Amino acid sequence: MATSPTSPMSPTAPGTVGWPLVGDKSYEFYKNPRDFLNKYMTQNKSRVFSVRFLNKPTVFVCSNSGVEKVLADGGEHLELGYKAFMGQIFGDNILFTNGEEAQVLRQSLSQLFTEDSVRTYHQTIDRVLNKKLASMDISQPKCLYAFFKQLVTEICLSLFLGLDFQDAQEVSDTIISMTTTHWHGIISVPLPLKIPGRGGASSYSKALDAKKKLLEIIKERRVKTDKTFPQHISTIAHDPAVQNDTFVNNHLLLFTSALVPKALASILTSFAVEVGQKDKLSWQTECLSNPDFMDAIFLEVQRLYPAFLGGRRIVTQDYEIDGYLVPRDHAVVFMTFAAHRDPAVFEDPEEFRPERWTNCSADMKSKLFCFGAGPRGCLGQRLVWDIIKSTVNKVMGAYQWHLHDNQELSQKWLPVSRPKGEILATFTKRDQ
Ligand code: HEM
Repeated sequence: MATSPTSPMSPTAPGTVGWPLVGDKSYEFYKNPRDFLNKYMTQNKSRVFSVRFLNKPTVFVCSNSGVEKVLADGGEHLELGYKAFMGQIFGDNILFTNGEEAQVLRQSLSQLFTEDSVRTYHQTIDRVLNKKLASMDISQPKCLYAFFKQLVTEICLSLFLGLDFQDAQEVSDTIISMTTTHWHGIISVPLPLKIPGRGGASSYSKALDAKKKLLEIIKERRVKTDKTFPQHISTIAHDPAVQNDTFVNNHLLLFTSALVPKALASILTSFAVEVGQKDKLSWQTECLSNPDFMDAIFLEVQRLYPAFLGGRRIVTQDYEIDGYLVPRDHAVVFMTFAAHRDPAVFEDPEEFRPERWTNCSADMKSKLFCFGAGPRGCLGQRLVWDIIKSTVNKVMGAYQWHLHDNQELSQKWLPVSRPKGEILATFTKRDQ
């Protein structure tokens, strides 16, 4: 059994956890997470502080060292904290498992994302991109987020369900509409709290219906399609670690959920906004000729605009973070967004400066947590980067774009990081 790393003298994190339903700060957080974090970090003079959140005593961790420590825990002191509000809407999957079960399951699922496996999916990614770009209409300006979201949604559904949008437009439209309804359920969390913009009970029950229908479609697709990813996931269904077909179907539901295209579109949009500003247009050409420069921009995009603001854990055994005791049964919310702007690690943290990544050490890159890290880090990263780089190289190889003047570039952070308003860009054919 693991021993507790806390010292009996450790103080608890500054702040107050209030009483059940009284003094809960969830509303304030969801209204404006950035202001919330700045307010409580300043008030407590600490990047680690306590509040009541989702009606549970919670320690927010905003320091880079603290987030690194939380993510390094492989279940010795912390469990993933998502089941309470996503369990029913997704059904059993890796995000709701812990300890040894999670380790075994990760090992099985990781077979889907090896270098060789991702190479076999690449053809599908290329096919969708070639088709979309061949019919791309550049006569009108485009909203960048909507443009990328449509593109990556088609890639994800073609890949994970073996759909061909040309042959199966009707099925594709139905699935997209179902994933949207399902998504509204994810954000209408049935909590004893009314959280702004989170919908209500009816969105939740519609989402459960959509989940049922999506699972039926997934089952059908697995039988019908001879495309690579569904075939591949079917072979791991025979792996005892994956237990049974339901478990496989639930993972396909997770991968085809709206969450993945939203996160992909978030990163692509942040990139396109940065290199589409009038004073940075030369960056587009430089990216095409210098992959290291493109990598540096993507590292800075991950740092300042991580698709997911952070994540959640439940403490199963007293724990210490940055010198503070976090008692058992408390929740821990780690804030990737704030860790990436921690001045103890990043000089001029609010500035977008790709050059900070040129010739940097591997250790510096390990301070980024856009995909989590350690024993529960994202399994899909290799695939994600194949999709993102293929998309950027194809779009940028054929077109250049610039943002329209006088647009408000402020950012929203939930459910994924993206510009608050529609950011419009005009695309023109790239001079060869
Ligand atoms: C831009 C897109 C994506 C982002 C930003 C992202 C980010 C993340 C993050 C931050 C975590 C860790 C959560 C935590 O520690 O609490 C995670 C876990 C995970 N991701 Fe991703 N992800 C992306 C796409 C994908 C894709 C495409 C797949 C697979 C098709 C995938 C599969 C997974 C799995 C299976 C886990 C759970 C690992 C575990 O619980 O051990 N992700 N992802």
